[in-house]
Amino acid sequence: MRRIALASLLAFAAAFLNGISIQAAMAATLNADQTVGRRLYNQHCGVCHTKPTILSPYYGPALSKDTVNNNEDALREFIQNGTDRMPGFQYTLEPRQIDSIVHYLMTVPPPEAAVPAPKPAARSNERELD
Ligand code: HEC
Repeated sequence: MRRIALASLLAFAAAFLNGISIQAAMAATLNADQTVGRRLYNQHCGVCHTKPTILSPYYGPALSKDTVNNNEDALREFIQNGTDRMPGFQYTLEPRQIDSIVHYLMTVPPPEAAVPAPKPAARSNERELD
């Protein structure tokens, strides 16, 4: 009986490993600014940029410190202006709120799935990178 309880607890933990538990574990190490950034991120960005389950695809690319990659200014501008597929936030968020989001993203480890898989040389349906 105890073994079954332990097994289901582990399965439960594994199901959440992809998002919530990592966030919870990181919470202790975030400073006030980054904590605000995380909250804003969850409110405004997570709907498109957080992978909700291990199996479902997400709409926007996963964001992490690799996205920031020492390009804080470019990133701020990108978030303000948006693209055809992503809304801009210049009228929704204050510049300092965007800063907080960027500072939070700098604490997010890159997802394992981001490790590029070997790709076939030519694929007609490949998305153009801009
Ligand atoms: C409606 C869905 C949606 C929301 C909400 C959204 N994004 Fe995006 N985001 C996208 C899509 C889609 C892309 C891919 C860019 C494209 O194809 O135009 C993207 C791309 C990005 C990129 C570039 C990533 C890369 O690797 O090139 C960054 C950075 C980004 N978003 C940050 C944010 C932040 C920060 C927020 C919240 C303030 C946010 N996004 C909210 C859909 C969204």
